[in-house]
Amino acid sequence: MTPTSPLPDPAPVLDLLMAFRRSKVMFAGVTLGVFDALEAGPKTAAALATELKADGDALGRLLDACVGLHLLTRSGEGYANTPTATAYLTSASPRRLTGYLRFTDEILWKLWGNLADAVRDGTHGWKRTFGWDGPIFGQIFHTPDLRREFTMGMHGMGVISSPQVVAAFDLSRFRTLVDLGGATGHLAVAACRRYTALRATVFDLPEVTPIATELVGASDVSARVGVVSGDFFVDELPASDLYSLGRILHDWSEDKILLLLQKVYDRLPAGGALLVAEKLINDDRTGPDMAQMQDLNMLLVTEGKERTLGEYAALLRRVGFASVDGRATGAPVDAILAVK
Ligand SMILES: C[S@@+](CC[C@H](N)C(=O)[O-])C[C@H]1O[C@@H](n2cnc3c(N)ncnc32)[C@H](O)[C@@H]1O
Repeated sequence: MTPTSPLPDPAPVLDLLMAFRRSKVMFAGVTLGVFDALEAGPKTAAALATELKADGDALGRLLDACVGLHLLTRSGEGYANTPTATAYLTSASPRRLTGYLRFTDEILWKLWGNLADAVRDGTHGWKRTFGWDGPIFGQIFHTPDLRREFTMGMHGMGVISSPQVVAAFDLSRFRTLVDLGGATGHLAVAACRRYTALRATVFDLPEVTPIATELVGASDVSARVGVVSGDFFVDELPASDLYSLGRILHDWSEDKILLLLQKVYDRLPAGGALLVAEKLINDDRTGPDMAQMQDLNMLLVTEGKERTLGEYAALLRRVGFASVDGRATGAPVDAILAVK
């Protein structure tokens, strides 16, 4: 570069330099209770500061930042939630992402603080960051509060993804679905809503199934969705002609993935299928950004990784699946259908 040549655009660097500040403004708004407090109607910064026991000037500055980020609107002195904040950032909303947000702020934020070390030694960050050792989900479910937070976080992401995942392929020929590691049951519920003759089972660890029973029981398809406790690596899987694995394969090492896929394949009748919900990396590994960020998240949090459709197809074919098809859904996870 000569002294007279134009400078490269600094915008990508500046944007990334500041990106975490925007995230933290939203996290602080949720932690302080700003969006919940504004559900009752518009309020001034002074009224909110009294209600939320915050410093008036500092809170006003945070509220203005939220206006700039399109989470709040301001009319005169009154601040109000945008429809986006009401849907995703308030604790009474069925679409809330606050569980995943709190998990991100309290857990992932600290793990990501050690990303360079994780890349240096290629291992997850639990021991380094929190001093915890042992099986991954034992660490995430370290306390009942963390377990609920993580599971409700999965739920918030799930309810905005599962309707598209179950619609990605025509599943109307299947009579039963067992969602392995189904957490709160959002995928089973979405499938039963779309396929009105389908019966479904949510299968998850015993510490998670009480939350599934609670949320499935409150759904409009509760009569067709059961909940079973078990360990998918150890226990016999409930019989079914369709299984699903939503955001499960990306958690585990290749050996454990092959063990689980083989169990599913062996349990299926001929013509049965496995629906996999994962965010797919492009075949040429150029994106999408969300899958690549999730891939590094998996490095920090699990023993797994995100993959391309070709990489998933190779694993599925190794255990015997004859036909493997993938679809981008536009949702936070994509869909793969593997047929026996
Ligand atoms: C990343 S979450 C995904 C949850 C859900 N499928 C979704 O897409 O929102 C992983 C889930 O797998 C469950 N899980 C982990 N190990 C398991 C095991 N050995 N047997 C059954 N479920 C397990 C966890 O309890 C958790 O609900």
